[in-house]
Amino acid sequence: MKPKILVARAIFPDVIERLTRYFEVETNDADVIMPPAQLAAHLADKDGALTTASERVDATVLAAAPKLRVVANMAVGYNNFDLDAMTAKGVMATNTPDVLNETTADFGWALLMATARRITESERWLREGRWDKWAYDMFLGADIHGATLGIIGMGRIGQAIARRAAGFNMHVVYHNRSRLDATLEAACKASYVGKDELLRSADHVILVLPYSAATHHTIGAAELAQMKPTATLVNLARGGIVDDAALARALAEKRIAAAGLDVFEGEPNVHPDLLTVPNVVLTPHIASASAATRRGMANLAADNLIAALGFGADAGRPPCLLNPSVLGK
Ligand code: GLV
Repeated sequence: MKPKILVARAIFPDVIERLTRYFEVETNDADVIMPPAQLAAHLADKDGALTTASERVDATVLAAAPKLRVVANMAVGYNNFDLDAMTAKGVMATNTPDVLNETTADFGWALLMATARRITESERWLREGRWDKWAYDMFLGADIHGATLGIIGMGRIGQAIARRAAGFNMHVVYHNRSRLDATLEAACKASYVGKDELLRSADHVILVLPYSAATHHTIGAAELAQMKPTATLVNLARGGIVDDAALARALAEKRIAAAGLDVFEGEPNVHPDLLTVPNVVLTPHIASASAATRRGMANLAADNLIAALGFGADAGRPPCLLNPSVLGK
């Protein structure tokens, strides 16, 4: 008998087809987001699951899923997992690192440029039919070239963003839990600074750090007050890293110039005040959404499931295992 899995959200049909060669697959064709109680009911008889960052896998879900051996997240971030509870139950947890680094870094730049140069704000104005003449001070923004870029979170995506900054002749500073080794710092042409110094000196701040209780509201009212009034802020990381209400206030009062946000507290709901301030570019969590990369992420999540449930060259050892201590159990 084939092991049973749940694919908790709609994904590429060819990846489902690939999974059906190994597994009895339950799909979610309506693509509804399952809250924990509903997810638990669907996992009662399952050996594995493929989830996205929208599904919370917590102790309640695990208690209802006695056969579950692996949950493969189709995301690099895994703050939707209670990793300790999964490890305690001997359930393998996997994610999809690396495959999205360059695509996400590209998007970070798209969002930064759109924010600093007021692209969406000016396009809205043009579409409203308000453009009747050119003027010297129309939509003045901030330069990217030659400016100081501050990156908070210098993992592989942060490094890919830093490498691109050389093309704009920027000065790059970063802050991270731990300092990079000298070779990586040199490759990124980036200098390590404290968070306060970064906030005070950067013309553009990009957030690319993982979400956890420790990084909740890394940017709140106090941090926004430290930034230059001409600065821009880009959040590519996770909702909750920025205090969205405090940011909306700072934008409305022009305490910073502008923000670009791909992630939100409580998404897909967006703080209503962010929807009314003009100086913010809003995108619906699409930083990794190139066609090739999203397919790569789905296939990597499938690789993890296939290996975890005992198939292929990596049988029993999925390539992106987050909690290797479960292997001995
Ligand atoms: C997207 O947000 C991811 O974590 O992959």
